[in-house]
Amino acid sequence: MDKLIIEGGHSLSGYLKASGAKNSALPILASSLLLEGKLTLSNIPHLKDVTTMIEVLGSMGAHIILDEDMNLEIDTSNLQNQIARYELVKTMRASVLVLGPLLTKFGKAEVALPGGCAIGSRPVNLHLECMKKLGAEVITEGGYIKAKAEKGLKGAEILFETISVTGTENAIMAAVLAEGETLIKNAAREPEVSDLIDCLVSMGADINGKGTKEIIIKGVKELKPTSHQVMPDRIETATYLTAVAMTGGEVTIKNSMPKTLESVLSKLTEAGAEIKLEKDAIHLKMDKDLKPVDISTAPYPLFPTDMQAQFISLNTIANGKSSVVETIFENRFMHVQELIRMGGEISLSGNTAIINGKTNSLHSAPVMATDLRASASLVLAGLVAKGETKIDRIYHIDRGYERIEEKLNALGANIERVNA
Ligand code: EPU
Repeated sequence: MDKLIIEGGHSLSGYLKASGAKNSALPILASSLLLEGKLTLSNIPHLKDVTTMIEVLGSMGAHIILDEDMNLEIDTSNLQNQIARYELVKTMRASVLVLGPLLTKFGKAEVALPGGCAIGSRPVNLHLECMKKLGAEVITEGGYIKAKAEKGLKGAEILFETISVTGTENAIMAAVLAEGETLIKNAAREPEVSDLIDCLVSMGADINGKGTKEIIIKGVKELKPTSHQVMPDRIETATYLTAVAMTGGEVTIKNSMPKTLESVLSKLTEAGAEIKLEKDAIHLKMDKDLKPVDISTAPYPLFPTDMQAQFISLNTIANGKSSVVETIFENRFMHVQELIRMGGEISLSGNTAIINGKTNSLHSAPVMATDLRASASLVLAGLVAKGETKIDRIYHIDRGYERIEEKLNALGANIERVNA
């Protein structure tokens, strides 16, 4: 099993290019099920989760051509089945994103129930309720969601009691080919939802309200082939900016979308970083003492849960007390025990972590990655810890960060991937 060995204590400087966004690529790949003909995609990140989604589509009979630059052509015209199998779904919950497209296009879908997850129970009830609202019959049987709509789906009003990113994406994709109008209330406003909408509109879908809480979709008869460039990964960008805020140094991240990162950039500024923005580049310089920052996660445009773990790492080496509140997932603190093993002074009370930060407090220790963003927080901790940090189970990190050690080493880090 691969491990990362990180020698701490190097400051980071230089240029990076952000990869394509994982959480945008996944729904967009699923949307290929909606059209007749080819969907051509560029800026697809080379990540395990993306490969899994490609495998899910391939196992149904999609025809996929991928070149070495990760440009992808996908044709689902000759689909042989509408089943997302457990063996694939269990490794990636986002596989549930095929439910809406399959149901609206083919009138049936079988998708394995995703099961447990390291960051909380993460049910799919909201996805199922949407499909029912749109007229589908949905049962769960033998570990599978079995849904059908023999006469097609019908537009409806869907109110999300809890804001759900993939739930909103599934509802939008189901509605684009449904008969009549669908109104989605309390929709997720994440930029990745907007990227999916842009792709669907270029296929010919009729969608209004992009980036707002209310999305109106008028169903169309069919969607046509198109090409789309996946947006940059804002969480990858934010993770590397946080790394530089912790190690000190100066970095420019190109191909990023600064306006999708306002909440994180304002916290990095509060922590002492100097940030300059260009149209699609972010420049961060850190040459001051790090200040602790209080965080509370919330749906976009507020502070993302996907950056919570990285900011706990940052706070462990910032002199002073801080609190980090997680409001989205109930169990997303698996990194805390590992950071404590590295010398972090952190206590947990319900959904709040209280951090007693101290400059140079982290030292090396063997630690274990437990989920994607938790792993990222351990890499950041390793970059500033005294000595050599060994991170086990890094397959989690390969799900969401493209060539992380190459990218950080290019900035001056010393990270080695070993197979032991
Ligand atoms: N929820 C329900 N029922 C549902 C769906 C969600 O109760 O049917 C709850 C969840 O348990 C959670 C809240 O609603 O408490 C919000 O979850 P959401 O549905 O928004 O999460 P998601 O769509 O499964 C996406 C990202 C996550 C990111 C969250 C929140 C993708 C593929 N995944 O998950 O990304 O943390 O939104 O922003 O888009 C990651 O990249 O590391 C990651 C976990």
